[in-house]
Amino acid sequence: MNTASIPVRSIRKSGAAARFPLDRWYVAGFSSEIQDQPIGRTFLNQKVVLFRTGGGEIAALEDRCCHRSLPLSCGTVEAHGVRCGYHGLLYAPSGQCLEIPGQERIPPKARVRSYQVVEKDRIVWIWMSRDDGSVPAVEPPDYPHHDDPRYKFGSGMYHYDAPWQLIHDNLLDLSHLGYVHLKTIGGNARLHMNAPMKVTQDGDTVKVIRLMPGSPPPPTYRAAWPFGETCDRWQEIEFHVSHLAIWTGAMEPGSGAKLDYNLYIDAARTTIWGDGAGETRVQFAQLGFQGGRPTQVEFDIFARLERQPLQRLYPDERRRAPAPG
Ligand code: FES
Ligand SMILES: [Fe+2]
Repeated sequence: MNTASIPVRSIRKSGAAARFPLDRWYVAGFSSEIQDQPIGRTFLNQKVVLFRTGGGEIAALEDRCCHRSLPLSCGTVEAHGVRCGYHGLLYAPSGQCLEIPGQERIPPKARVRSYQVVEKDRIVWIWMSRDDGSVPAVEPPDYPHHDDPRYKFGSGMYHYDAPWQLIHDNLLDLSHLGYVHLKTIGGNARLHMNAPMKVTQDGDTVKVIRLMPGSPPPPTYRAAWPFGETCDRWQEIEFHVSHLAIWTGAMEPGSGAKLDYNLYIDAARTTIWGDGAGETRVQFAQLGFQGGRPTQVEFDIFARLERQPLQRLYPDERRRAPAPG
């Protein structure tokens, strides 16, 4: 999916002052996480409950009962919806209240906001729209590797106590591997820093390809495949303003990058913005950094490229934010 073709809209909410790219798909979780219990998550500062109905469909609602505001994630999942754990109101995936224990009449206003969700390639995507009820303009991105029998699929989640833009910086710029990840996926730091690379930008998408032929296999790679002294490594990172994907791999030396693969890891990584973010965190996120103007070096081209689409979304912030210079 090329998100660059989507008309980009953002919101400026009073109070929460939330600024995120809207009318886009975000990662809500993995299919395997949504089973028989409701899950409460925060996306772009919006509290959401995810659950799977008896028919197997995944639904997402505002995580707040319209009666006395108990989070619906504290309730229970039933065949046709989620039941509040306080006084038992039952909500359909549409957000409409289906049942109020103890009374016949169900007021039409007894409902909560619903979100569009799509389960695809073992990822659950949520459409974060500007307006309640807006229809997604595009399909969620594809990650066919997840169902490709040539790969082993695994999933996990990291919670970062850091501004999300720094995480994007980190994942777009893997030159740090030789220093940070010495005991796992690191390797020769100098090779990492000097790796030939290609950086392209297409609308709001930034793509980085780094090739590292003749690399000593790092410990994780050696454990996964019987490499000799060296291997040919590559890394591909694709940044979109609502998510980010990384493909990395390694082959026997001399086979040339990406002719085939011996080891192909990290099929896809995606980021969830604002998960658990409080007001303070949001302010940090708007500024991009937790303090001061960061010193830039030549390879910070990634950070500059990543900021450009975001600064287009928030022109007001351009003057205030300590964007990489
Ligand atoms: S708070 Fe949910 S039913 Fe009363
Ligand atoms: Fe890292």
